Amino acid sequence: MVNETVVTPAQLIQPLFVTEGDAPEPVPSLPGVFRIPLREIAAHCRHLHLLGLRGVALFPKIDPALKTADGREALNPRTLVIRATEEIKAHAPEILVFNDIALDPYTTHGHDGVLTANGADVDNDRTVEILMQMALLHARAGVDFVAPSDMMDGRIAAIREVLDAEEFSRTGILAYSAKFASAYYGPFRDAVGSSRTPDAVPISKATYQLNPANRREALREAQQDEAEAADMLMVKPAGPYLDILRELRMETALPLAAYQVSGEYAQIHAAAERGWLDLRATRDESLLAIRRAGADVILTYFAEAWAKDFA
Ligand code: PBG
Repeated sequence: MVNETVVTPAQLIQPLFVTEGDAPEPVPSLPGVFRIPLREIAAHCRHLHLLGLRGVALFPKIDPALKTADGREALNPRTLVIRATEEIKAHAPEILVFNDIALDPYTTHGHDGVLTANGADVDNDRTVEILMQMALLHARAGVDFVAPSDMMDGRIAAIREVLDAEEFSRTGILAYSAKFASAYYGPFRDAVGSSRTPDAVPISKATYQLNPANRREALREAQQDEAEAADMLMVKPAGPYLDILRELRMETALPLAAYQVSGEYAQIHAAAERGWLDLRATRDESLLAIRRAGADVILTYFAEAWAKDFA
């Protein structure tokens, strides 16, 4: 009677990795997660919809031969994630598609944008130009929300402007606003093949993602994205940043998303495999805590399994 917080399947977004391959490919660092073949993606989405889920976030596993320093495959109008979006919108239109807008699946160096001449940093403004074109391609393919996850400055306004100019005023923007430079992204980078540079150096995105020490800076980034006309704001990772989520909840009237990222999922699974934690109980508590802190929707690799158990 006095229970204050609930989680329902409609509030969960399933991140999906897509592959050109013929068979589902397991991701070793994400137990239970498979890269889905393009030709199965629409059927898979229909299955998720029957479980009560309403949205998916697509991430392509790009053939390494197509990766370049400038990530130009991102602007190929027939690139994998565009075809996947069209499949879903043609055969499972009730599922909302949220596509990541960033260059990391397409660059040899794994960064979210193109690099400056000396290679020391991402070139903010050149990257924003590319992301605008990328967002437009996704809008043409029928995506419901573009989700810029790159953390470049000024990209929300730039993307809004190009979408509106091309009659895509109904395509929403989910801004990865408070995205921290986190160690919890490791398994995701394995899944899309972006974890190491060509010289096998582990990648650091600390020049553009947020410093985990900074709370005020996260709020400033979110205010800026809201001022630039984002439709929804995101905090990422979720569990270690519940304080940020709660503060943003008090500050904004926009819907808030939280991304329970790959490392959060992997650590619960790893401990459960050893018999140290109860998988379902820990999973359910982690999702409840994210909702209690103020998230309207949660991106989580647990979405499908959670919805099955809920039914
Ligand atoms: C990159 C992107 C990342 C994630 C979503 N989009 C990783 C990164 O910033 O390197 C991470 C998601 C996860 O760990 O589950 N644009």
